[in-house]
Amino acid sequence: MSRVLMVASEAAPFCKTGGLADVMGALPPALRQAGEDVAVVLPGYTGIKLPAPAREVWRDLPVRVGPHRFRTDVYEVQQREVPYYIVDSPALYGRPGIYGDASGDFIDNHIRFAALSIAALQIVRFLFRPDVIHCHDWQASLTPVYLRSVFDGDPTFLGIRTLLTIHNLGYQGRFGGWFLSELGLGLDVFHRDGLEYFGDIDFLKGGIAYSDAVNTVSPNYAREIQTPEFGFGLDGFLRSRAAKVTGILNGVDYSEWSPESDPHIPSHYSAADLSGKRECKRALLEEMGLPLNLDRPLIGIVSRFAFQKGFDLVEEIAAELAAEDLALVVLGSGEPRFEQSFRHFASTRPDRFAVRIGYDEGLSHRIEAGSDMFLMPSRYEPCGLNQIYSLRYGTVPIVRATGGLDDTIEEGTGFKFWDYAGWALLGAVRAALEAYANQLRWREMVRRCMAKDFSWNVSAEAYKALFARLSR
Ligand code: ADP
Ligand code: GLC
Repeated sequence: MSRVLMVASEAAPFCKTGGLADVMGALPPALRQAGEDVAVVLPGYTGIKLPAPAREVWRDLPVRVGPHRFRTDVYEVQQREVPYYIVDSPALYGRPGIYGDASGDFIDNHIRFAALSIAALQIVRFLFRPDVIHCHDWQASLTPVYLRSVFDGDPTFLGIRTLLTIHNLGYQGRFGGWFLSELGLGLDVFHRDGLEYFGDIDFLKGGIAYSDAVNTVSPNYAREIQTPEFGFGLDGFLRSRAAKVTGILNGVDYSEWSPESDPHIPSHYSAADLSGKRECKRALLEEMGLPLNLDRPLIGIVSRFAFQKGFDLVEEIAAELAAEDLALVVLGSGEPRFEQSFRHFASTRPDRFAVRIGYDEGLSHRIEAGSDMFLMPSRYEPCGLNQIYSLRYGTVPIVRATGGLDDTIEEGTGFKFWDYAGWALLGAVRAALEAYANQLRWREMVRRCMAKDFSWNVSAEAYKALFARLSR
């Protein structure tokens, strides 16, 4: 049994912008079930949704970052037997928005997330002493950096090991080198083997440099990030540390994502009785204002609209898609360019395309349940969760064969394309439409998808083994 303290910037159901939150909501309880002693450190953003009453467990935690001192209290809330420590520091997190607001990223994010690492280390000192500190993404990446520099030699931290999980190499937390002293760091960590990246501070690079182990969220992505195409400038650095880089595929939380019990969908169903799925499709078409043509194949998209997600390919083939006998429902938000494109599709072909711009948890479940196919044409995808949710909902994924998409979808449970090109995507969509035309065979495929099992317990065992190896 290991004691593990996780540090992250989001966790469902407290605060979420993407899959990281799903992982942070489900992995800790899965590890707890597997016998590990786990706790999580999370910022107490304004608007954070606490599922149960929180109790104050520490008043005035000493959180100092360089010249700054932040008034910080710690609250604890339990979720499925895991304590989540909520770092309440109004000057840092007391504003709406997790990473930014309408005018962009907050300009003090380097300080906000450096402080998260310091708070986590003080929680180690006063509240929860782990064998392993498990950091997630750049926002938690200064934890091992502070541990091996500022806190080096402090007996409190003796023997503690660190693991960094990279959920997305595309976000590294890069800031001007001049912030070094404001972050309370010195030249001992600011060099090419540390957190320096061509004169800048790179939080994630620091995390990779000073963690005892590094993993990503699928085996395929662990390989890909060591190539120039997917390395975002860190491939060489990662290659030089290949011995400590592994891939552990994410699981999914079937207590949240199952058509048998999902509270967000209008009708429940299972592989044995798919009639409810048809009802979900009808309700979804109605909700999205599309004609109630139940026999026409319906493709769903739920996504952040980011460079990563490959929607420029959809833009490229919009005219061809409009000419096919299909309907498309889209839920998402992000880069204005894609919001505009999708709005434009919907306004030109309101009989075929329907778009909802925004973040809507209930609708995301209804799209998973009501669609026939789910589209993820990602340029890169560390793991991807929606395609795995889709499998369980019998919604056949159409994906680009990259990262975790390639690891989780196989022939017989989805349609894949390889080249990052509109024609390749179109080919996969057409293959799916052709398959759909034979309803008997389609239903077989749907059932095959639904039988796939990506429960967290498998991944939790892999993490457990990694923690054990680290703390040996
Ligand atoms: P990423 O983390 O890169 O965004 P994932 O596939 O791992 O991709 O996870 C995305 C998660 O965020 C899923 O749970 C998905 O349902 C959710 N999500 C993304 N966009 C929206 C949205 N507009 N409304 C509701 N949920 C969304
Ligand atoms: C990131 C990745 C996504 C992954 C998620 C959870 O946001 O973009 O592919 O599923 O993290 O690990």
